Amino acid sequence: MITYYHHFRSAPPARVTVQLCRAEACRSMGTETLKEHIEGHTGCRFDSGHAEDTELESVFCLGQCALSPSMMINGELHAKVTPAKFDRLYAAAQAKAGDNAEVTA
Ligand code: FES
Repeated sequence: MITYYHHFRSAPPARVTVQLCRAEACRSMGTETLKEHIEGHTGCRFDSGHAEDTELESVFCLGQCALSPSMMINGELHAKVTPAKFDRLYAAAQAKAGDNAEVTA
């Protein structure tokens, strides 16, 4: 079983994957509060696999500590993320994933 490197996958990823930085700089800028908001907003839990069409993953430093809190959504980097900004980014990612699903179907 592949467990030592979380970028290896044994199943396809969710349509929307959120990777939230939970390292020190982002923690000092409120990433744990943001984590609680994200879990409440999506109905998913961090690091517990797929739920619905969303996967939430903890990561530890995305290399933009000065712009904390940071995250990636479907591979796109975002800085100074607030709960309201997350809601907008997440809605856009869901819409984009829906558009892509229609194209590939
Ligand atoms: S600690 Fe979050 S980007 Fe470096």
